[in-house]
Amino acid sequence: MSPERKVKFLNYLQEHLSEKISKKVIETDLQINRDTLNQLIHSLKNYGIKVNESDTHIWLEGYPEIFSLADIVMHTKTVARKIIPFFDVLSTNDIAMRLAIQGEEEGTVVIAERQRQGRGKGRSSWFSPSDSGLWFSIIFRPPVNTISVEKFTLLSAVSVVESVKQLFELDAKIKWPNDVMINGKKFCGILSEGKISMSGLEFIVVGIGINVNLAKDEFPVELNEHATSLEIELNRKVNRVNLFSNLMFNLDNQYELLKDSPLEVYKKWRSYSDIIGKKIELSVSGNSITGIASDFDENGYLILHKDSGVLEKFMIGTIKKVF
Ligand code: BTN
Repeated sequence: MSPERKVKFLNYLQEHLSEKISKKVIETDLQINRDTLNQLIHSLKNYGIKVNESDTHIWLEGYPEIFSLADIVMHTKTVARKIIPFFDVLSTNDIAMRLAIQGEEEGTVVIAERQRQGRGKGRSSWFSPSDSGLWFSIIFRPPVNTISVEKFTLLSAVSVVESVKQLFELDAKIKWPNDVMINGKKFCGILSEGKISMSGLEFIVVGIGINVNLAKDEFPVELNEHATSLEIELNRKVNRVNLFSNLMFNLDNQYELLKDSPLEVYKKWRSYSDIIGKKIELSVSGNSITGIASDFDENGYLILHKDSGVLEKFMIGTIKKVF
């Protein structure tokens, strides 16, 4: 059963939300037989969509808000001019990479209600259950070769910080290199991946995961101590569609800024970062290094004043401890 067929079926039901529709009418309208109809109903139920049925009729009680995104027209310059929603995927980054290779246009966003194999940095996984987050990936085709993959991580982190400040007055901070934190706990992760060919950077896929409506006890135990969500911080549920739309505008604006004056994006990113001047413990390829986080360069690389007295630049690593 193709995803397009399921989306078409769901769209059809959405048009008749809460209305009882005869199964015979659906079969005629969608040109399908009873077996296919039963399979479609079964698969929507599997995704947690509330499809009710009697012998002769079906009706939809509600549907995931993520799906209303397919109809949103964003008045942005580039980002989210096209939005492709999915119910259930392995990873939106994988889908966006595939689409980009096939020539999908810049700005397209792939978003999923749930990911089964959401990927985090390194080889880590990203917990992405349904109903609770924004899990999406954006395709960028930057015009200038000097715009690096790292810069997209910076612009995304800045956009997330600004969205939660604007919408909820939350004081989010960036933990180097790409975690967005509230009160010292992570609620957003960013995974930027690119394809480089002989002629330079062909495209970049930026994957952003935001824990939106997750209660404390919904996180797996191993994440409980270090992860948070907007629901936990605000003590209420958040409308994911509003947050998504606001974030798309911010990403679009930051992208324009990056093309015109990359230094401005870096300056904002640096100002939202809260470890400059602090003593940290860094883990790099299994080694632990301590020192003072003295600054970041304009790519977002960390300049560490190591305890040994030597200054060293790090592209990647994980901050294990801030003293
Ligand atoms: C991290 O902090 O480790 C990065 C997490 C990135 C998660 C997002 S969710 C949407 C996109 N699809 C993925 O598989 N990963 C990214």
